[in-house]
Amino acid sequence: MQNNWIDRIENSLNLDELEAVRVSIFGKKGELAKAFAQLKDASAEEKPKIAKELNALKQTLTKTYDRKRAELEEQRLQERLKREAIDVSLYSPRAGGGALHPVMHTMDRIIEYFTDLNFAVETGPLVEDEFHNFEALNLPDYHPARDMQDTFYFKDGKLLRTHTSPVQIRTMMKQKPPIRMISPGAVFRRDFDLTHTPQFHQVEGLMVDEKGKVSFANLKWILEDFLHTMFGGVDVRFRPSFFPFTEPSAEVDISCIFCEGKGCRVCSHTGWLEVLGCGMVDPNVFKAVGYEDVSGYAFGLGVERFAMLIHRIPDLRSLFEGDLRLLEQFR
Ligand code: PHE
Repeated sequence: MQNNWIDRIENSLNLDELEAVRVSIFGKKGELAKAFAQLKDASAEEKPKIAKELNALKQTLTKTYDRKRAELEEQRLQERLKREAIDVSLYSPRAGGGALHPVMHTMDRIIEYFTDLNFAVETGPLVEDEFHNFEALNLPDYHPARDMQDTFYFKDGKLLRTHTSPVQIRTMMKQKPPIRMISPGAVFRRDFDLTHTPQFHQVEGLMVDEKGKVSFANLKWILEDFLHTMFGGVDVRFRPSFFPFTEPSAEVDISCIFCEGKGCRVCSHTGWLEVLGCGMVDPNVFKAVGYEDVSGYAFGLGVERFAMLIHRIPDLRSLFEGDLRLLEQFR
């Protein structure tokens, strides 16, 4: 009988089987309990001997059971480890996260600088008319920018905006001064070579207030601070220039970030990189939108150029070819 019990414990293949055996042997109505119950029928002199044997047997069984249980638990653990093991050498397709395109990321940084200074973000249509894109901006109809060579025209005389400046006009025509706005967005020109693409992005800036309140000094301060925020400790220089919609006008250069002003291929050995156009809003522009007794400054910049300089991207084309090897570097 006792061998049979021990065998049944030893032969259990898993914890469920062992549990069934445990209940049948050790349970309240189990076989051990029955064996102990039979003690009462034994004779007085046999009782202690049988009791002793039964207790020894119970001990052996318990030990066997405990050992078997530990063994089966270990076995179950090993099986589980094997089943759930991670094969780190296994190939799996990479789950790639998305990222902002460097041009959009640069745009966001520019927007953030100006919105921190309470500039509002204004937008306007990409399909513009001659009034907003040219006329109101003091670009007379003999101006070369109006030429078919430079501007994409539609049959009905509308056009793809060539700069973000028409948004200045739209904003001034629907709001009263003071105005403090930027306008980020796409612009289009009939240009396609190593350094020009038919579509690119600009951020326009405009500040207008009562006459005398907005000066060239304000413009100079904000653009210097802006360029230092974007490019670090560069030198900034304002170079007299011309735009039909500003007077006086300037182009703004930073000391070349590639050669630190010593002169290299990127800066055409001048030590300077042009990054911005700006000036005081021309009185003719204010006249076109019906503003009187105001002064203001305006500026415009190309976002692709900023992105290329900030990220040291040598070729403009790599910004729109969508080559993942480039884009993945910006995750
Ligand atoms: N609109 C000009 C351009 O596209 C940039 C500019 C904006 C210059 C505002 C001066 C003032 O080149």
